[in-house]
Amino acid sequence: MKSIVILISGRGSNMEAILDARLPLEIRAVISNRPEARGLDTARQRGIPAIALNHKSFATREDFDAALATTIKQYSPDYIVLAGFMRILTAEFIAQYANRIVNIHPSLLPAFTGLNTHQRALEAGVKIHGTTVHFVTPALDHGPIIIQAAVPVLPGDSEQSLAARVLRQEHRIYPQALAWLAADRIDLKDGVVRIRDASVEAPMADASLIVPDEK
Ligand code: GRF
Repeated sequence: MKSIVILISGRGSNMEAILDARLPLEIRAVISNRPEARGLDTARQRGIPAIALNHKSFATREDFDAALATTIKQYSPDYIVLAGFMRILTAEFIAQYANRIVNIHPSLLPAFTGLNTHQRALEAGVKIHGTTVHFVTPALDHGPIIIQAAVPVLPGDSEQSLAARVLRQEHRIYPQALAWLAADRIDLKDGVVRIRDASVEAPMADASLIVPDEK
């Protein structure tokens, strides 16, 4: 069975969705850079080693990442799963785990990399927004895309209502991406992911999502 370590910074709802999915994956530890992260309690309650590694205790990003790498090595996971982990990782850290770190980002990448994605989507007036699970590369929010979910932006949406609609999809697609990892079904070639034996391509080929829909 493949193993993972999950990195969080706060609420941990994506982590919970992953735990609830009961995937054939060994979850060896949850680590948060914020000691007060609610997700640490959730992990502990479920009997998963939960470790706080406060980034504020380190003088530099490099020092923190070195300590993070040392902590993770004790659990020797196959993959590192970033679930609301709000720290930029150094290229050195990422290089140690090439193609073995996955992240969830609350936008349809490559649109809206970085922070405040929902507010920026509203300001840009996009009609379709969403979320992406991708492999992590040194270029922030730019790694190979594993799965995406789109949601319509509705008239009258606030940042909060849009975020909530996107979050529901995050909780669907992250467990799905990890199920593929667990089953070793993800092929990565030339920066493009292909899911082996996925049957969605043919029946979905003509599907479209048009927003607003003319009734
Ligand atoms: C999610 O929206 C995730 O996409 C973003 O931060 C949020 C974390 O939420 N990177 P949670 O901690 O998983 O509840």
